[in-house]
Amino acid sequence: MIAIAPSILSADFMRLAEQVQEVEAAGVDRVQIDVMDGRFVPNITFGASVIRALRPLTGLQLEAHLMVEPPEEFIERIAEAGADTIIVHQEATPHLHRAIQQIHGLGKKAGVAINPATPAIMLSEVLGSLQIVLVMTVNPGFGGQEFISTTLEKIRQVRSWIEERGLDCEVEVDGGINLETAPQVVAAGANVLVAGTAVFEGSGSVAERIQMLHAACLAKRCESRF
Ligand code: DX5
Repeated sequence: MIAIAPSILSADFMRLAEQVQEVEAAGVDRVQIDVMDGRFVPNITFGASVIRALRPLTGLQLEAHLMVEPPEEFIERIAEAGADTIIVHQEATPHLHRAIQQIHGLGKKAGVAINPATPAIMLSEVLGSLQIVLVMTVNPGFGGQEFISTTLEKIRQVRSWIEERGLDCEVEVDGGINLETAPQVVAAGANVLVAGTAVFEGSGSVAERIQMLHAACLAKRCESRF
C-alpha cells in the first residue's frame, strides 16, 4: 500500500486549515509538518503552535519532521501539541537512541530521517526500533527542489534491510517527488511519498493531483538507471 503524505510546507499558509481539510477529503492518512529552526537547515517555518492549532481540525495523522538541532529540546512540546509521529534527523544529535526512546516514552511513533550525504548504515543500531525511515531525496530546507537520483540505491538498501529483518517499518521519501519520480522511488522500495509542490501547486485540484500521484506510483515499474 503506497501512501501519499502531503507536506504543508508548500500549502497556502493563509488557508492552512482549509488545505489540510482538502487533503483529508482526498483520502490521505497523514500530513507532514516540516519544522525548521534556521540552524539545522537554512530556513525557518513553524513549530508546536501550528501543530496545536491544526490538531482539533483534522483526524489525519500529524507527522512532525523535525529539521532542528538538537531535536531532544523540541520533542516533548511537539508531542504535547498533538503530533502522532515525530521524525528526527540522524545528523542532528549524537544521542539518536535517546531521542527515539524519548519519542516512544511520550507514546508517539518514531522516525529517523537521513540526508542525501548520510549512508543508510548510520541507522543500523536503531532500525529495529523505528516505525519510519525517511530517506531525504533532496537536501532539507526548501520545497520545489530537484530529486537527487543517487538516493534510489539507498532506498533499495533500507527496504532490503527491513525485509531481511522482518521489521514493521515504513520507507518514506521526501523531496522532488512528482509524477516522474514517484514510480522510481516505489520501484526502489518506498511506500510513503512526501509531496509538497506536486500536491499543492499545479493545474487541477488538490484531490486530482493526489490521485495522479497515486496513479503514477502504479505505473510500470521503471528500470532505474542507478
Ligand atoms: C525539505 C522539505 C521538502 C518538502 C516537500 O526540507 O521536507 O522536501 O517536504 O518538498 P517538495 O516540494 O519537493 O515535494
